[in-house]
Amino acid sequence: MKIIRSPNAMAAWRERLIYEGAKIGLVPTMGALHEGHRALIQAARLRCDALVVSIFVNPIQFGPQEDLAKYPRPISQDRTLCRKDGVDICFEPTVEAMYPAGFQTMVTLPALACRWEGEVRPHHFSGVATVVTKLFGIIRPRIAIFGQKDFQQSVLVQQLVKDLDLGVEIAVHPTVREADGLAKSSRNIYLSPDDRIRAATLHKSLQAGADAIRTGITNGKTIRSAMVRVIKNEPAMTIDYLTVCDPRTLEPLSYVNSRAVLLGAVRLGPVRLIDNLLVASSQRSSSRIEVFSREKL
Ligand code: PAF
Repeated sequence: MKIIRSPNAMAAWRERLIYEGAKIGLVPTMGALHEGHRALIQAARLRCDALVVSIFVNPIQFGPQEDLAKYPRPISQDRTLCRKDGVDICFEPTVEAMYPAGFQTMVTLPALACRWEGEVRPHHFSGVATVVTKLFGIIRPRIAIFGQKDFQQSVLVQQLVKDLDLGVEIAVHPTVREADGLAKSSRNIYLSPDDRIRAATLHKSLQAGADAIRTGITNGKTIRSAMVRVIKNEPAMTIDYLTVCDPRTLEPLSYVNSRAVLLGAVRLGPVRLIDNLLVASSQRSSSRIEVFSREKL
């Protein structure tokens, strides 16, 4: 596995790979790799010839009060996992190389970026959209894989690729969960042992919403109430948002007629947890409510 730290060196490798006819795949990450990332890497490995994993803690997607300084950076552990999973190139640019003095271009998606996560983290998605656009420019992947755990991010990236004609296929991989349903996340290490047990309540709340839809309830407010009730039973948890939305536009739904995404964000001690479930009201009898790819929606 090659470790490349400069965007110019990465671009030179990309040219060589493209010249050789290789299909480049990209899994963009901020490191602190866990089973969720590994699932993305393993899925990407099957869908490309040359697999690049980027590891870059992107400062411009963190707010001033957020955890940029203490974000985990276990780089040698990350490299070991990448080697194990057959990654060809680990791209680990420095902040100075990605944002040199004089850098000024930002990519913004005013409608999609201002809702939900964007309300709580106002500059987050322009930071994400900017770095993803840069990574696509440097690496020129034919396919890039994102996790469904960050559902709003995956919708935004698909919109970005479409709007800017970037020609990258975006695949969205289902969330990998702990045995009790908690979505795997690099930030779960900040949960105290008691909060770790409580944390599964968010997934239970989303499941309560999905169960309501399965039993035939279509009213968005009633579905949301079923989700809120579960969180209210856990006094240590506070709700940032819980919502029933259209999975393409992320607009709240008054009625669920076909597909919906249940989005949730809560706070538990110092940790903010996010999660989501994709549901289809026409599949009431089916227990499979998460789908692999948003393209199937
Ligand atoms: O999902 C993440 O880890 C980040 O937002 C991403 C896509 C790597 C951009 O920094």
